[in-house]
Amino acid sequence: MASNASPLHVVRCVCLLLLAASASATVAARRHGPAAPVAGQSMYLAPSCRAHTASLTDFGGVGDGTTSNTAAFKSAVDHLSQYSGEGGGGAMLYVPAGKWLTGPFNLTSHFTLFLHSDAVILGSQDMAEWPIIDPLPSYGRGRDKIGGRDASLIGGSNLTDVVITGANGTIDGQGAMWWSKFHQNKLKYTRGYLIEVMHSDTVVIANVTLVNSPAWNIHPVYSSNVVVQGVTILAPTHSPNTDGINPDSCSHVRIEDCYIVSGDDCVAIKSGWDEYGIAYGMPSQHIVVRRLTCVSPTSAVIALGSEMSGGINDVRAEDITAVNSESGVRIKTAVGRGAYVRDVFVRRMSLDTMKWVFWMTGNYKSHPDDKYDPNAIPVVENISYQDVVATAVNTAARLEGIQGAPFRDICIANVTATLAKSRKYPWTCTDVEGVSAGVTPSPCQPLQGSHDGACPFPTDTLPIDQLVLQQCAYSVPAI
Ligand SMILES: *[C@@H]1O[C@H](CO)[C@@H](O)[C@H](O)[C@H]1NC(C)=O
Ligand SMILES: *[C@@H]1O[C@H](CO)[C@@H](O)[C@H](O)[C@H]1NC(C)=O
Ligand SMILES: *[C@@H]1O[C@H](CO)[C@@H](O)[C@H](O)[C@H]1NC(C)=O
Ligand SMILES: *[C@@H]1O[C@H](CO)[C@@H](O)[C@H](O)[C@H]1NC(C)=O
Ligand SMILES: *[C@@H]1O[C@H](CO)[C@@H](O)[C@H](O)[C@H]1NC(C)=O
Ligand SMILES: *[C@@H]1O[C@H](CO)[C@@H](O)[C@H](O)[C@H]1NC(C)=O
Repeated sequence: MASNASPLHVVRCVCLLLLAASASATVAARRHGPAAPVAGQSMYLAPSCRAHTASLTDFGGVGDGTTSNTAAFKSAVDHLSQYSGEGGGGAMLYVPAGKWLTGPFNLTSHFTLFLHSDAVILGSQDMAEWPIIDPLPSYGRGRDKIGGRDASLIGGSNLTDVVITGANGTIDGQGAMWWSKFHQNKLKYTRGYLIEVMHSDTVVIANVTLVNSPAWNIHPVYSSNVVVQGVTILAPTHSPNTDGINPDSCSHVRIEDCYIVSGDDCVAIKSGWDEYGIAYGMPSQHIVVRRLTCVSPTSAVIALGSEMSGGINDVRAEDITAVNSESGVRIKTAVGRGAYVRDVFVRRMSLDTMKWVFWMTGNYKSHPDDKYDPNAIPVVENISYQDVVATAVNTAARLEGIQGAPFRDICIANVTATLAKSRKYPWTCTDVEGVSAGVTPSPCQPLQGSHDGACPFPTDTLPIDQLVLQQCAYSVPAI
């Protein structure tokens, strides 16, 4: 298909720094002249502007919601990958308004997948369209089932500079079929994710809406320099394992301005599972989450773990809003996980209708198999929570460390939790150690160590906050 596709629409891409954004719009308009349809002109941000643009329809794509576009997506990416090399200029694949049914396909480097505001990419309901791929080495097996797993709807491996964006277009996993197979225990393999990028550097996912993923929504794994911004994620609150954004063995991640309603954790930071994660040894670190709004009645707003066997450190979260969620921040681990969760800093959370504001679990039982090391005891330390207001709370906190290996250096300051109903023990704590100041209701005894003022919160800027995206202009011909 690629060979007889119509010629690419080469777009004169105007690349300049964000600061010059207004100027660039003018320049783009002038260059395209009066013939260019104004409505078709738009701007996008990318690590580098793309020199080549093509539309999915150039590769035989049909946006009727019933025709499979798997071959069209594959030939489009194959064709555009000719520009993905050093000096190739990069390419953008434009997905026009329409409903584009497809099975899984992979992206390439120096590449942007751009969705029109009325574009909907629909996940195929034909299981034969979903290839089976190897389990992640740091998990040793699929998360649902032993052995391989279904590929993710949009995938990519060993990429540099890849962007999924648009004018808030939609990627709909049509997950109901998968959820029902999961509930009926009829899955042969682990469900695919909506987006999974592996072994990649510089990944931007921005201004798209993701709905009804078969399982996790966004899964960057073994990657660095990842930005997820302005993403809306919606899944029924009882759909199984529809986690929002799960950075897994990733460094330098920025998640901001996202709105997530889901059946599992809104954000879950992970790094591999028991002996497989320990052997792989790749941590998740230098991660910032800000301005997240979450609804997660059965899970956490931000979870750390439960798979954390490569270690998790330096996580910063601020300006977090949640309603009707199980817990604000939850640390989940177990004997056998090994590694550590350390240097976690959270401030300014506004929560309403919560089961627990804070939850730590040292006995989260799920293991990949029975070969885990009973001496692999995880270390949890240097955890700070401050400036939190929570209303309609069931229990302020449930903090359960590991016997003989208490979770330590916990600092909690300036937290007000208003209980929905008064209770005798608003805090339950075992095997934890720390300090607190200005916390209502009064914390459990192990956290009553006196403390003056604020808890630690790093003052340095993370490198991912300095990633510069360029403002780029594109235009597609009127169809
Ligand atoms: C997402 O859209 C918002 C609003 O239009 C814009 O300010 C922001 O720069 C966009 N982000 C990216 C990474 O494209
Ligand atoms: C995507 O790439 C991965 C890794 O190279 C591969 O295993 C998988 O089969 C590819 N998926 C598709 C749909 O081609
Ligand atoms: C992708 O990167 C990983 C980690 O660097 C490497 O082990 C693997 O061989 C690479 N795969 C390909 C297809 O280049
Ligand atoms: C994007 O679309 C979703 C779903 O329709 C909507 O809830 C959200 O407000 C939209 N975001 C923007 C920035 O328009
Ligand atoms: C916790 O982390 C902060 C920021 O990195 C650091 O300043 C502080 O010394 C750490 N505290 C402990 C007890 O490790
Ligand atoms: C305590 O937290 C509240 C809510 O975030 C904030 O408005 C207030 O400034 C904080 N107080 C101090 C002393 O930091």
